[in-house]
Parts: sequence; C-alpha cells; structure tokens
Amino acid sequence: MILDVDTGVDDACALLLAGRHPALDLRAVSCVGGNAPVDDVVRNTLIALHAAGRDDVPVARGADRPLLEAPVDARHVHGDDGMGDLGWPPAARRADPRHAVELLRDTLLASPERITLIPLAPMTNIALLLRSYPQVAPKIERIVFMGGAADVGNATASAEFNVFHDPEAAAIVLAATAELGIAVTMYGLDVFYAPVVSREQAAALTSSEAARLGGALITFQCDRFGSAAATIGDAGAVCAVIDPAGLTTRELPMRVELGGSWSRGRTIVDRRDWDGDMSHDPHGPAPRIEVALEVDAARYANLWLETLR
Ligand code: BDR
Ligand code: CA
Repeated sequence: MILDVDTGVDDACALLLAGRHPALDLRAVSCVGGNAPVDDVVRNTLIALHAAGRDDVPVARGADRPLLEAPVDARHVHGDDGMGDLGWPPAARRADPRHAVELLRDTLLASPERITLIPLAPMTNIALLLRSYPQVAPKIERIVFMGGAADVGNATASAEFNVFHDPEAAAIVLAATAELGIAVTMYGLDVFYAPVVSREQAAALTSSEAARLGGALITFQCDRFGSAAATIGDAGAVCAVIDPAGLTTRELPMRVELGGSWSRGRTIVDRRDWDGDMSHDPHGPAPRIEVALEVDAARYANLWLETLR
C-alpha cells in the first residue's frame, strides 16, 4: 500500500498503524498541503514514521496548494505545527528528493504486485498523478480515500475538509478512476468519527515510541475538544484495508460539487433507489464508487490499539 497524507494528527495515527501492522507492506508516503503547509506535513510524516520504526519508507513532498484556490489549513484542529504541538523531536533523515507525484509513479510502476492507494488528504497529488501518468492505472488495486460524506460536512455544512480544500482534484480523481477502471472506496464522514479511543486507553499506550506517540495524539484531541475520547480519524481508512469486513459499503453514483454558493466541495451521493437506471436524470450517469455507510467502530478502534500495543 501507499499513503498520501497531510499529517495531521489523525494522519499520524494512520501512519503508525500502517507502519506497524504485520499484514501491510507500506511502500511509500506522499505528502500534500492540507491540515498544515506541506513542509510541516513532511516534517510531521517523518516524525511519525520514525516513531513507527519505519525510516526505510520513502517520503516525498508534493503539492503545496490546491489546483485552483489558495490553501486553507486546519491548525485550529491539528495545532500550530499540524501534529498536536507535542514537541516530539524531529527525525534525523530527510525526504526523498523526488516530487511526490514522481515517487508515486516510480513506486507503482516498479511494483510487481498491484498496490492499494490510500489518500487521507486533499487529492491534489492523486489528480496530478492520474492525469500525468495514467499508465500507473493497472498497478493500482483500489483507491480507498478519506474524504467526502453522503450526509453532512465538517469544513462547511455541506463539505468535508479534504474535498473542500481541493474540489477540482477530487472531481478529477473521480473522473479519471472511472475512465481508467480503477475501483474506489470512499471512507467519508459517515463513518470517520465513530472509531474512538478513550483518555484511559490512550494513557495506557506506553510500550513503545509508536504507542506513546499514538497515545499523545489521542490525548491532544481530547484536551482540545474537551472530550473523554477521540477519533482515530484517518487511521480508520487503513483499518478498512486491513479488515474490510468491519465496514458496510454500498456502490452508489457520486459527483463533486464544483459550483454552488454554499455547497462547493460537497460530495453528492445519489441514494435514490433506481436500481442503477440513471436514464431519467437530466445530468446523465455519474461515476459509481463504494461508499462507506456504517462501521464497526469498536472493531477498528481495537485494531488500532492492539497494533500500537
Ligand atoms: C479530514 O481532514 C483532516 O482534518 C483530517 O486529517 C482528515 O483527513 C477530515 O475531514
Ligand atoms: Ca488527513
């Protein structure tokens, strides 16, 4: 698998899980501006992978801004440094000199097996990859992305942060995957907040540096939001790859809203019961993807906890 991240408190939770779980082979990590500016994202990603004991995994810097708009970060959620202001020591190694899109291309083309691509951030890098190097398509097993929602948003009432940050990129990925025949699963806000870890469970994570960082990230979120538990967030999308039986999905048509006064960046999931017959819709058929609608939250939270323990 490959992760694309904007680390990011919960991206760090995902990196710890992906770096430590024995069933996964983490081949590369690409970085994009999102929760924090891209240079902060690279630094945070290298710290999280070092904590996971995975200095062997190449990390590359990617797009520093969305395709069309100015970047907006989410420091009010993730802290001034983008990863909880924990004061964790910086990693000794540097990022790979390639641009993230080149790292993605090279890793995919060099792989004898198909690779699952897991974007946990605005999909700027992924849109650039699929438009620049469509020859990677046969090497992609599936894209499982965190973003969007069938129901309400979080960045706005309509839109989820990752898609809101770069709606054009999300729309390009949706169109390109349909054209290139790449299967897509959306792990969106309908399930994202459900797998949670309590303050007590976080405090008990002491057995390794990965465990301690994971515990500190959960505690940061509990403190910031005054809650007794916090979501593992993006790590849930990695759980969905390790343990797909914990997720209930449905294949549905979806579009990304690129206009709208108040709805830009919304993922419009068509849940009308038409048995796949879109002939009465004046817009014509929309790309169909697997949309996560329910999650076994305790199962995914335990998977994350057990892996870090
Ligand atoms: C998504 O946006 C970021 O805040 C998180 O890292 C996650 O990827 C949730 O909307
Ligand atoms: Ca993220």
